[in-house]
Amino acid sequence: MITIQLTKSPCWQQPSEAYIIFCDDKLASVTPTAPLSTIEQENSALIEILKRNRFEGKCGQSFAFTGTLNAKLATIIFIGLGALKRGHHHELESLRRGLCTALQTLKKLRLKTACIALPESTLYGLTSAQLLHHVVIATHMSTYDFIDFKPEALKDPWTVTLLMATENTADAATALETANLIGQTINKARRWADSPANVMTPTVLSEEAKKIAIAHNLKHTIFGREKALELGMGGFCAVDAGSDQDGKFVVLEYKTTVANAPTIALCGKGVHFDTGGINIKPTSGISGMKFDMSGAASVIAMMGLFGQLKPAINIIGLTPLVENMPSGKASRPDDIITCMNGKTVEIRNTDAEGRLILSDTLCYAEKFYSPDIIIDIATLTGAVQHGLGHFYTAVLTKDDQLASALLAIGKATGDRTWQLPLDDDFKEAIKTDVADIHNNGSSAYYGGTIVGACFLQNFVEKSRWVHLDIAGTAHDVPGINYVGKGATGASIRLLTEFLLNYGQYKD
Ligand code: BES
Ligand code: MN
Ligand code: ZN
Repeated sequence: MITIQLTKSPCWQQPSEAYIIFCDDKLASVTPTAPLSTIEQENSALIEILKRNRFEGKCGQSFAFTGTLNAKLATIIFIGLGALKRGHHHELESLRRGLCTALQTLKKLRLKTACIALPESTLYGLTSAQLLHHVVIATHMSTYDFIDFKPEALKDPWTVTLLMATENTADAATALETANLIGQTINKARRWADSPANVMTPTVLSEEAKKIAIAHNLKHTIFGREKALELGMGGFCAVDAGSDQDGKFVVLEYKTTVANAPTIALCGKGVHFDTGGINIKPTSGISGMKFDMSGAASVIAMMGLFGQLKPAINIIGLTPLVENMPSGKASRPDDIITCMNGKTVEIRNTDAEGRLILSDTLCYAEKFYSPDIIIDIATLTGAVQHGLGHFYTAVLTKDDQLASALLAIGKATGDRTWQLPLDDDFKEAIKTDVADIHNNGSSAYYGGTIVGACFLQNFVEKSRWVHLDIAGTAHDVPGINYVGKGATGASIRLLTEFLLNYGQYKD
């Protein structure tokens, strides 16, 4: 449990077990109101101690020192940020990582209070409230821990109160409130995605969605296989068929009171476990497939956030929740199904199941909500990991304006994105003699991520549409300390920024 409180700078006077201070490569504090000279007054050998411990303020360096402040024992954690280029928001990423290092030190020492001297916001070309926003979200991400199934750890959780020293109280207080909610939303989605498939079934997640709807005044519609069959959702039913767990289709609606507001639909892939189905995955490819509902988890968690923050647009969250299993009832390769818009699909590979459930979800969104924009979020293809690695979510769209907004927001939020092309040449890769399209993509065309998006394109007729492939970014991202192990909540920072400030990005 972590509580963040605001305090006026300088923070030295605040009583606290620990103080966190960021330094540049000149060994100077980057918080003008919190110079190292204040610490030196009570710890005269400070600079010598830092030098002896090879702390030079370089990016990635950190050093924890136990000394005195205000005549009390204090742990002072120094974080290096290196040579900062003024006004570059890219530099925020090293601040996030440095902050995480400091928080990990607090946790290791089991300290319960810490005061953080925030860097001067103009260093990042931001207001102090904007800087606080990024810092608070990174703090929540850094302190996430999936200990739900570790009874010993659960008995002794680490709780901490962080005092953040910042200017301008009113703006900062609002920024803190919003960023707290975004951070909690990210961690909620991560917890659901990290929970294994024997626990986090479609039924359980649909109940969580219902709780969120009731708590935050969202309209909810939840149905299963029977209604899906009635609606002609052949893709959803084909994937759901093999599992003993009941599949659920969940729709949450946030409506603004603002008249004539645009409507945006968020569609999240919810495969609670992807065995591949009859085209069963090999051992090397099957572990981690509990994370195949990460898109749905993010959408449902975000809907709760929108219910609380009430942006001036309508947002509909749609998630097909299923399990992709082999069984006597499972779909077979060569099966031909009919999706909700009447298009027929030859199932060439039961492991390309995400696009099957999303096809009907996109149709459902268009049919019942005529959204201005549809955004789908899916762990759709292994191929994206080869193309973009683990640090970039793939953005696929023919809408240049949407693409450039999502690329810019990716840079600013640290939830990085990269655009892949979506040319019609790829349409050939899903042509078949026996149905409108097939779901596997001809190997002659390669580009599995693009071909997946090409398939989905068949189910969007009127709306502006963008597809986010988060198969590389949703889980097991190496090397970024604040993103951590397991589920990452990828695309939540990206989409909350886009939707909460939609007015800024709409043209
Ligand atoms: N859920 C997988 C994609 C995936 C792979 C996500 C690795 C995360 C890590 C998806 O359903 C899948 O199996 N895709 C196939 C598509 C192929 C059969 C056309 C793939 O990527 O191999
Ligand atoms: Mn699959
Ligand atoms: Zn899948």
